[in-house]
Amino acid sequence: MSFAQKTAVAQVRTGLWGAGMNIKGLAALVTGGGSGLGLATAQALVRAGAKVAVLDRDVGGFDGLGFVCDVTSEASVSAAIAGAEAAHGVARIVVNCAGVPGGMRLVGRDGPVDMARFAQVINVNLLGTVSVMTKAAARMMAADVLGADGARGIVINTASITAYEGQVGQGAYVASKGAIVALTLQAAREFAAKGVRVMAIAPGLFATPMASEVPPEVVEAITSDAIFPRRFGQPDDFANMVLAIIANPMLNGEVIRLDAGVRLRAR
Ligand SMILES: NC(=O)c1ccc[n+]([C@@H]2O[C@H](COP(=O)([O-])OP(=O)(O)OC[C@H]3O[C@@H](n4cnc5c(N)ncnc54)[C@H](O)[C@@H]3O)[C@@H](O)[C@H]2O)c1
Repeated sequence: MSFAQKTAVAQVRTGLWGAGMNIKGLAALVTGGGSGLGLATAQALVRAGAKVAVLDRDVGGFDGLGFVCDVTSEASVSAAIAGAEAAHGVARIVVNCAGVPGGMRLVGRDGPVDMARFAQVINVNLLGTVSVMTKAAARMMAADVLGADGARGIVINTASITAYEGQVGQGAYVASKGAIVALTLQAAREFAAKGVRVMAIAPGLFATPMASEVPPEVVEAITSDAIFPRRFGQPDDFANMVLAIIANPMLNGEVIRLDAGVRLRAR
């Protein structure tokens, strides 16, 4: 046996090498859990045995604990996190899916972009995510270690492949998602000392109510440019990615593209 193999065996014996977080019984928060990717994630976490609370402006189709919450309001976020904690205990899994589209040109027919509209997209997609991530992570950091590796919990944020391949007319959305990408490593480094991982998923085109606003010709272009499979991602594909990330303790500080290998055209 090599030195590395002997070390690994010793770590497993002493419990220093984690087998990932066992979702069963853990409290989870899913923002945007009333619809689309968030709803599928909340449902998958319930099936995996988590105690799930959904935070959404419209808790919609989720058949469980839901808090009507606007992620742009700190008071609303704090109240929902406290309410979920009172019901389920400190959340160890946080998945940020709340988001809005934001089609607008930087300079359009009417001149430069309306900064209030631009800011609204940043407010929800970026500041809302940061607000929930930091408030929930602070609670995780103050909670007991869960087991091997000194893990206390995980935050998974939702970026977009547009963060890397900004399309014409998507400046506000691209800026909001690019910032989520940039924050992934930074937040993971800050939270590491307390055993909190931070990951992000950058989806391609997924079949949700948000995607119903995408013009058919753009849908056709994105799906036909995919490597394989050439179809919409399904919300369950996203939810399965979330479960896989939670289960694998070696994933940290990284953004995973979930897009069937597509590269976007300019528009
Ligand atoms: N569907 C796609 O193709 C796609 C691709 C890349 C990234 N994304 C991202 O995935 C995430 C989920 O999107 P989706 O496709 O499931 O869309 P969706 O519209 O089905 O769900 C978004 C949810 O966020 C909620 N929400 C919006 N603003 C909120 C606020 N201020 N406070 C609380 N909740 C709010 C909505 O009520 C809704 O339930 C978003 O961040 C989106 O940008 C989606």
